[in-house]
Amino acid sequence: MTNNRVAVIGAGPSGLAQLRAFQTAAQNGADIPEIVCFEKQANWGGLWNYDWRTGLDANGEPCHASMYRYLWSNGPKEGLEFADYSFEEHFGKQIASYPPRAVLFDYIEGRVLKAKIRDWIRFDTAVRLVNYNPTTELFTVTVHDYANDTTYSEDFGHLVVASGHFSTPNVPYYEGFEAYNGRLLHAHDFRDAREFSGKDILILGTSYSAEDIGSQCWKYGCKSITVAHRTAPMGFDWPDNWAEVPALVKVEGKTAHFKDETSRDVDAIILCTGYKHHFPFLPDDLRLKTINRLAASDLYKGVAFVHNPKVFYIGMQDQWFTFNMFDAQAWWARDVIMGKIEIPSDKSVLLADVQEREEREEVSDDGKYAIRYQGDYVEELISETDYPSFDVDGACEAFYQWKKHKSENIMGFRDNAYKSVITGSMAPKHHTPWVDALDDTKEVYLQN
Ligand SMILES: Cc1cc2nc3c(=O)[nH]c(=O)nc-3n(C[C@H](O)[C@H](O)[C@H](O)COP(=O)(O)OP(=O)(O)OC[C@H]3O[C@@H](n4cnc5c(N)ncnc54)[C@H](O)[C@@H]3O)c2cc1C
Ligand SMILES: NC(=O)c1ccc[n+]([C@@H]2O[C@H](COP(=O)([O-])OP(=O)(O)OC[C@H]3O[C@@H](n4cnc5c(N)ncnc54)[C@H](OP(=O)(O)O)[C@@H]3O)[C@@H](O)[C@H]2O)c1
Repeated sequence: MTNNRVAVIGAGPSGLAQLRAFQTAAQNGADIPEIVCFEKQANWGGLWNYDWRTGLDANGEPCHASMYRYLWSNGPKEGLEFADYSFEEHFGKQIASYPPRAVLFDYIEGRVLKAKIRDWIRFDTAVRLVNYNPTTELFTVTVHDYANDTTYSEDFGHLVVASGHFSTPNVPYYEGFEAYNGRLLHAHDFRDAREFSGKDILILGTSYSAEDIGSQCWKYGCKSITVAHRTAPMGFDWPDNWAEVPALVKVEGKTAHFKDETSRDVDAIILCTGYKHHFPFLPDDLRLKTINRLAASDLYKGVAFVHNPKVFYIGMQDQWFTFNMFDAQAWWARDVIMGKIEIPSDKSVLLADVQEREEREEVSDDGKYAIRYQGDYVEELISETDYPSFDVDGACEAFYQWKKHKSENIMGFRDNAYKSVITGSMAPKHHTPWVDALDDTKEVYLQN
């Protein structure tokens, strides 16, 4: 029955959370709908599935990858641990708190390998277009199957969009960029910090990409880092060859000019200017339009699209909580689809829910407030499903500690360890300080 089929777009952490949610229900004896997940890449893991390519991927699609070599988790793993699959269960021991990308990929993969849901995913299959027919109440999903080089369409009763929102770069223009005599790239295309060793680099932006890409370049030997801020400097106690300057005004040759009328010659400019929510496969009536914030626009309970509540968006918020929040959302969407949770039929109720979340977010721009806000959101959703309850307060506490450790030592915060909120055990300190750990392979990381 097509009205009992669910299409999931994307097999990153959010899409995999959705598959795992249904698989858990089936394991507990429920009669679940048919789930079909479309993934344009050859493997699962989303951003955690590293691709050395930039520009186009192996199939000629826009390259999804925004992660780079040597990326380590920027927040403690204790804040993202799956409540139904602990790090200790996966690795057979407790591991240090800021795992590199390959270690987190392994962990994400472990849970879904155990759940045996790979067959639900059609890899190398890009979703091209989705249409909704209000008469039949079905979604027609048109895809390109690259393995067979064919396009085809199938009908579904529900749609889950889990295609991520940190992949399509926001690329501003500044005067002189077209004639800049250096390397100019967006963070999305940054892969290997060693490319910048011995170079003077300029970074635009002051958020996580700016902080982390700058720190990586510093760790792997760049000559100097200058970060230009549009709004406010990051304000950490940076190393001596790191400067924060006012906004960029223009570039002439290799010279960058800033708002305070100072200038610097730079070999490379890295635009850490964020990403766009971009859903080229969705028509106007199904497409989410939001900025990167905690209360994403038009999503009832942060998940169901108010203009068509048979469409669910997973992971579209700005993120303090990640994997466990995607789980909370996926379990909730599952229960709506399976008729256990009812979405109010009055659209004004859905809109009021969104408005309340937006207003509550806007009460404060303090980081601690935002962490608690998202923690409360995760708690709210898991209280409505059978997702294993966990110590959300403890996870918030790990984030507060993380912020404190960053302000104490921005190049050393990853050397701290926190307590698991799932198993209660303390993480070991990593065997090597982050600044000295140039080899971040899984094998070396796990040598604790
Ligand atoms: C540089 C960077 C570093 C990060 N570091 C951390 C970190 O340290 N810790 C943390 O918790 N979070 C981190 N994040 C946040 C990250 O967003 C989440 O960890 C997580 O990857 C989000 O999962 P997702 O499934 O929502 O999206 P994604 O991981 O982006 O996965 C989306 C999937 O959808 C697929 N897809 C997209 N379009 C289509 C289409 N048309 N058809 C078929 N498939 C499609 C993609 O190929 C991809 O596999 C980081 C993000 C970035 C950009
Ligand atoms: N190691 C890691 O784990 C790691 C590393 C990198 C990124 N990430 C993740 O990736 C996600 C995205 O982070 P992000 O830093 O890329 O994006 P982001 O958090 O959305 O920040 C975008 C930044 O770009 C700036 N900006 C936007 N337009 C600009 C313009 N025209 N000129 C100058 N500056 C401009 C913004 O400045 P204003 O403040 O002035 O608006 C802001 O500082 C986050 O979830 C983060 O956690 C993780």
